[in-house]
Amino acid sequence: VNVSDDNSKVTATIPSGDTVEVLLYGATIISWKSNGTENFWVSDAAKLDGSKPVRGGVPVVFPVFGPPPKNHATSSLPQHGFARNSRWEYLGKSTSESASDDSVKMDFGLYSAGLSEEAKKAWPYDFGLVYSVTLTKGELSTILTVRNEGKEGFDFNVLLHTYLRIKDISTTTISGLLGTSYVDKVLDARESTESNSDLRITGETDRVYKSLAQDTTTVVENGSPRFDVVRKNFRDTVIWNPWTEKAKGMGDFEPKTGWREMLCVEVGSVAEWVRVEEGESWEAGQTIKSLV
Ligand code: BG6
Repeated sequence: VNVSDDNSKVTATIPSGDTVEVLLYGATIISWKSNGTENFWVSDAAKLDGSKPVRGGVPVVFPVFGPPPKNHATSSLPQHGFARNSRWEYLGKSTSESASDDSVKMDFGLYSAGLSEEAKKAWPYDFGLVYSVTLTKGELSTILTVRNEGKEGFDFNVLLHTYLRIKDISTTTISGLLGTSYVDKVLDARESTESNSDLRITGETDRVYKSLAQDTTTVVENGSPRFDVVRKNFRDTVIWNPWTEKAKGMGDFEPKTGWREMLCVEVGSVAEWVRVEEGESWEAGQTIKSLV
């Protein structure tokens, strides 16, 4: 197992040849390769220099999802909060080496003391986040722990905004959502229930599937399972594809036809606030399995 840290990015390689790259800015995973294949989509115009959240990979959304609501403790924060545009600390690695299952776990931390003055002012709570990224052959697991280190409770949302790389959106389907109720952000937050066992994306899609009964959402390419996305303690999953017009409108989205090769399956707890009281902590995460 090889792990290198160049002060802006941590890169790990395990004996199978699988690799992962984590930018300290946002603790954003910007690459995960298994079996010689890149599993994440990152825009050609993504900023990786800390000037803007990364368009692609796995940005971490905390403590608010989407535009913050009015009259709430998060109201002064930017869309999707501050975790994705703060610099995290690399806390170190632990490895497990065995004949059958080499793996490496890397921990990243973000604490209230490490926030920009602006973010501290906008959300003045005492917290600690630890984000663990574990690479095993064909699998990537990420777990986020949220600790309340202050004297008062706080409410938050968390979302792992994963941009999966796919071959072609027109031959991709998503299973595991049947019967789940969702908020359709493209249709003025209309509430519906998913009636497709194999959901096909045929236009701009931005849906919050709530309290899923099933832990696994599967992305299927040409009839063959490509990714299993397994939630742990997260209740919701957002499905997002900007399609043509939205992609045109995003300055950092390149190529403009890139929406054909990406699909966001974003696990999180976003439909309702999660609350941690003084001294409490909470954790949740995902395991993504690359099935090729
Ligand atoms: C998704 C939201 O999670 O993120 C969308 O559901 C949003 O509404 C998208 O457009 C991208 O957000 P941003 O801030 O990275 O452009």
